[in-house]
Amino acid sequence: MSEDVFVSPRKHGRIAVLISGRGSNFMKIHDAVRAGRIDAEIGLVFSNREDAAGLAIARDRGLETAFINPKPYADKEDYDREILGEIRKRDIDLVCLAGYMKVLTPMFCRACRNRVMNIHPALLPSFPGLHVQQKAIDWGVRVSGCTVHFVSPEVDMGPIILQAAVPVLPDDTEATLADRILAEEHRIYPEAVRLYFEGRLEVRGRRVRILGSSPG
Ligand code: GRF
Repeated sequence: MSEDVFVSPRKHGRIAVLISGRGSNFMKIHDAVRAGRIDAEIGLVFSNREDAAGLAIARDRGLETAFINPKPYADKEDYDREILGEIRKRDIDLVCLAGYMKVLTPMFCRACRNRVMNIHPALLPSFPGLHVQQKAIDWGVRVSGCTVHFVSPEVDMGPIILQAAVPVLPDDTEATLADRILAEEHRIYPEAVRLYFEGRLEVRGRRVRILGSSPG
């Protein structure tokens, strides 16, 4: 059976960022867009929380924002269909999850295969899920970090695009480790988005190859 291969499009893209909180990763992506390091524009900042600090920042930066209250939706797919509608309406090429605290339904993931990225504050596949900085400390690992990956229906398990490692220090608290990891998130997330619209991400099964960079 021949393997399904995806290569990201080389184009001036349109990005939707989905957030639930402070939105620092969203801001770093936007900073990189504004500085011309990413050949794209942010067409939508969406949140499931009206009070997300990042949403107010997006408005201040003159970006289009949307909030949909999930409460009236008994069916998670119905909610995700609304978000899909917002995305399609704006001709979005890539969805960036940046501290979006809802799990996307398999329906959404299938509809946007290879078009949704997430940032996770651990070196996947270690420590999927929540509160992972504390889990890394409790486990006693010496190294943790962050992962940018494509989103698949299995939470935190999609193909890995970029990772960065940081040391876990003996005196670390959840907050100090989270800060050290966040600095790396802010570096690799915009980088992954840049590579996407440079047409340089090739996905074969689980593996992502960065085209145009020397192996090793
Ligand atoms: C980050 O640590 C990210 O890895 C995780 O949620 C946090 C979001 O932070 N998925 P921010 O809203 O981007 O500042």
